[in-house]
Amino acid sequence: MTEHSSELSTPGAGAAPVAARPAGSEVTLPERFENPGLAPHRDRVADRDPAAARGAARRIALLFGVSMLGSIGFVVAYVAAPSDGTVTGVRNSTLYLGIALFLAMFGIGAAAVQWARTLMSDREIVEARHPQRTSDADRAAAIEVLRQGAADSAIGRRGVLKGALLSALALAPLTVAVPLVGEVGGTWNVNAFRHTLWKKGTRLTLDPSGRPIKAEDVVEGSIVHVIPDKLRDSEHWIEEKAKAVVLMTRIDPAVLKEAPDRAGWSYEGIVAYSKICTHVGCPVALYEAQTHHLLCPCHQSTFDIADGAKVVFGPANRALPQLPITVDDEGYLVAQSDFTEPIGPSYWERLK
Ligand code: FES
Repeated sequence: MTEHSSELSTPGAGAAPVAARPAGSEVTLPERFENPGLAPHRDRVADRDPAAARGAARRIALLFGVSMLGSIGFVVAYVAAPSDGTVTGVRNSTLYLGIALFLAMFGIGAAAVQWARTLMSDREIVEARHPQRTSDADRAAAIEVLRQGAADSAIGRRGVLKGALLSALALAPLTVAVPLVGEVGGTWNVNAFRHTLWKKGTRLTLDPSGRPIKAEDVVEGSIVHVIPDKLRDSEHWIEEKAKAVVLMTRIDPAVLKEAPDRAGWSYEGIVAYSKICTHVGCPVALYEAQTHHLLCPCHQSTFDIADGAKVVFGPANRALPQLPITVDDEGYLVAQSDFTEPIGPSYWERLK
């Protein structure tokens, strides 16, 4: 710090009491207690010895160097040891990234602390202020308002109400705390997100009736909400439905762009995608037929289903997973397999 106004001073021990002066006023306010002053400033080694100061500067530069190595190491680890989706791969990648990030942050932090402790000025500075205590009259008025409020509420005279109020306030936080603690102790099996009820030959059926859908019934431009056949036979069908819901539409095959690794995943322009937004999992349900855009109402992520449901706008960072489909002997739409990647929001262990 540097001295920057006439209000600042660097007193030694036993300095005279400071009489503060509010801006624009000549009135001198009394001190509440005597100014104890400050102990005399003691120079540090680096203040007295230029060689020690140079040594401190070298140590600080070294710590910044550690930070630089950590940052470079982070980039190297990110490129050279990416997570491959296996438990070992995730663990190793996390370990390398964590160590490098620690060094990068620790180096900067430790250097800053060292710099402040050894080389920056440590001269004490005192800023005098006028007393901030409110007047006795204001205090009395505030207390009177509180008293009046308590009297108006009649809480003093009604012990039952007082007890009920305190009990209700004490119990209310449980509604938040119990689910939180329960979730922490619950199952954290993220593998459940890797699979849905879809498998080879499962018919696509209308949500919620469960009626199978023929390819010829799917009209271009319409959007169809789809669930797997025999969904309700599943033990936890509501959870399974939350993962397996699909949106299907028919697009002019001339405008449909199929990636080479997804050739044959659509049927005569009919495409099916997971309905679960890859941002934080809202149902994506607003379809604009002219642009072929699917919009998530939660945060406006927009997916182009004519082009692999890639993200064209919004916070989602990956395309909607596509369900490979075809038709069976009777012309009903069926899945070729499960989704080939986890549905829903991104999470740390998901396959790339
Ligand atoms: S959940 Fe879809 S954009 Fe956020």
